[in-house]
Amino acid sequence: MIKVQNLVKVFGTKRAVDDVSFSVSRGEVLGFLGPNGAGKSTTMRMITGFLPPSGGSVTVGGFDIVEQPIQARRLIGYLPENAPAYTDMTVHGFLNFAAEIRGLRGDARKKAVSRAVEMCCLEAVLHQSVETLSKGFRHRTCFAQSVIHDPDVLVLDEPTDGLDPNQKHEVRQLIRRMGEKKGIIFSTHILEEVDAVCSRAIIIDRGKIVANGTPQELRQKSEWAGAVTLRVKGVASSAVTAKLYQVPLVKRVTVVDEKDGLVTVQAFPKAGANGALASAIGEAAHEWHIEQLQVEEGHLDEVFRSITMPDTAKEATK
Ligand SMILES: Nc1ncnc2c1ncn2[C@@H]1O[C@H](COP(=O)(O)OP(=O)(O)OP(=O)(O)O)[C@@H](O)[C@H]1O
Ligand SMILES: [Mg+2]
Repeated sequence: MIKVQNLVKVFGTKRAVDDVSFSVSRGEVLGFLGPNGAGKSTTMRMITGFLPPSGGSVTVGGFDIVEQPIQARRLIGYLPENAPAYTDMTVHGFLNFAAEIRGLRGDARKKAVSRAVEMCCLEAVLHQSVETLSKGFRHRTCFAQSVIHDPDVLVLDEPTDGLDPNQKHEVRQLIRRMGEKKGIIFSTHILEEVDAVCSRAIIIDRGKIVANGTPQELRQKSEWAGAVTLRVKGVASSAVTAKLYQVPLVKRVTVVDEKDGLVTVQAFPKAGANGALASAIGEAAHEWHIEQLQVEEGHLDEVFRSITMPDTAKEATK
């Protein structure tokens, strides 16, 4: 549904987006992650035709966004960053207007507006002017605008930003449901959202894609992936540590806790060993009284930080 090829955007001397390529199919929800200023919004503005690329191409549903902008934009619903809207209109007036410029008339327009109002829980503020809305309701109004024509492709720039926890949950559910039939790309700074909603995620840093995979694949890049937490009874931590260091797959062991005769340690796998560490440790520890042996899945936030932190900051946290 979306095909981005070698996309570049240059502002003055800055390459805000630097040779970015990816695609999104129908039925796929792609999470777009990256630190502030990484180039997420700029990429989304180019995908939706609001900003001309300096290089590369974008097609939406097979239509080139520069060569065939009307056909391409017809297929897209877009929630821009900071949810802009016409502030002097009422919510109802704004959504009616959005439906009209999408070419919906008469009954079809009424149905589209009430569907979007219901979807985004806007009944209570329908006749309030947009400028008097709270941040979250304003965001929801803009979200409703983006889905008013039931588009095949949704480009959502931080769709849960500023929402309360209930609404965050609602919007995630909505994205997941809509993602079954549409192609969706959305940006977020909330890493749990990636697990809750995305079938795939891309991490972008300083304009370049630095990771692209399923949430599971990304977690595997974490130092924690396959790490084993072991709690044993009646053995000194020095003995536990010494024994675990004899396991060839172990890279590092740290003692997390030692009290009341219970020792908790964490063992990290050497590169490529993360699937096999738990059984190797289970074997090494078979003579001990094991209270707990737990395998870590890996942490997305750790992957994010290790990939996107400047090298100097990485040094400082070592
Ligand atoms: N119109 C513009 N003129 C000049 N520089 C720009 C313009 N728009 C964006 N930039 C720069 O391009 C870079 C990428 O910005 P962008 O808004 O795409 O980041 P982002 O990943 O969306 O960040 P955030 O998480 O803060 O929303 C930044 O350095 C920004 O200052
Ligand atoms: Mg942004």
